[in-house]
Amino acid sequence: MFKSLTDGKLLANGKVLPCLGYGTWRTPDGDVCINGVRTALTLGYRHIDTAQIYDNENGVGVGIKNSGVKREDIFLTTKVWNTHQGYDSTMRAFEDSLKKLKTDYVDLYLVHWPVAKDFKSTYPSKMLDTYRALEELYEGGVAKAIGVCNFLPHHLKSLLDNCNIKPMVDQIELHVGYHQQETVNFCRENGIVLEAWSPICKGTGFDNEIVQEISKDIDKTPAQIFIRWCLQKEFTPLPKSVTPSRISENMEVFDFNLTPKQMSALDSIKEIGQLGSHPDDCNF
Ligand SMILES: NC(=O)c1ccc[n+]([C@@H]2O[C@H](COP(=O)([O-])OP(=O)(O)OC[C@H]3O[C@@H](n4cnc5c(N)ncnc54)[C@H](OP(=O)(O)O)[C@@H]3O)[C@@H](O)[C@H]2O)c1
Repeated sequence: MFKSLTDGKLLANGKVLPCLGYGTWRTPDGDVCINGVRTALTLGYRHIDTAQIYDNENGVGVGIKNSGVKREDIFLTTKVWNTHQGYDSTMRAFEDSLKKLKTDYVDLYLVHWPVAKDFKSTYPSKMLDTYRALEELYEGGVAKAIGVCNFLPHHLKSLLDNCNIKPMVDQIELHVGYHQQETVNFCRENGIVLEAWSPICKGTGFDNEIVQEISKDIDKTPAQIFIRWCLQKEFTPLPKSVTPSRISENMEVFDFNLTPKQMSALDSIKEIGQLGSHPDDCNF
């Protein structure tokens, strides 16, 4: 079991994906993002998750510089957005991301969604062209690992049938109340490491009775319980916060264990459910 922020899952490239990341979706670029990233790194986070569409790669890059933490000690992820799918536009998007992030490589580059709204009629060929660009970036050493987000087993099958380098990661919506068991099983059978987005249910579900009871019993907050549930499932949670006290709270999750009984009770929660879009039904 993971003992600290820098423990993690071994990826197919032989590198370690730190078991807890700092999410940045909806973090506005500029001071909020710079301060959030700097705070997270100063506190000890070593894994930052951003994306082209978050429009905050500049702030992430400055936050990294301002933190004083060495680039090589940070695991940095970004993603190509749907409108940039295709071989050439992915290559351009990647260059642009590197410039904004003020770095010459990323640790993980991901395809953000399998079926982009504009390319529904050319699925899967557009997605496969996009992934071919990722393979080249990996072979060129500028993307140290590559993978996907929001791919369900049928998307993964069509990718696995046509790629040369298997995706190393699938970043999907995963949290208490939304388990995606079929995708989890498929990824595990195929050596694909799972990352969990919205691991604290976007700040909802805290008042659930079961969560409240465990929280009182072990004196941990609902957010910490949600993050710990992900860690014990070996999903890599990427909690997002721009609030310094919460950034700190969300990493204080290595000094307790949820018992099998508490894990089962959390597993039984049905009421939270899917919070984001379904990958086959994206209108973006
Ligand atoms: N690949 C994808 O398609 C995809 C999709 C969604 C998300 N993601 C990634 O996953 C990350 C996390 O997902 P998410 O941002 O949707 O949701 P999340 O991390 O589950 O929740 C974030 C929300 O919870 C609040 N919060 C954070 N810590 C808290 C705490 N300790 N107590 C109470 N509230 C707390 C935050 O508020 P404050 O910031 O105001 O503190 C924010 O409103 C994203 O930031 C992004 O990096 C990826």
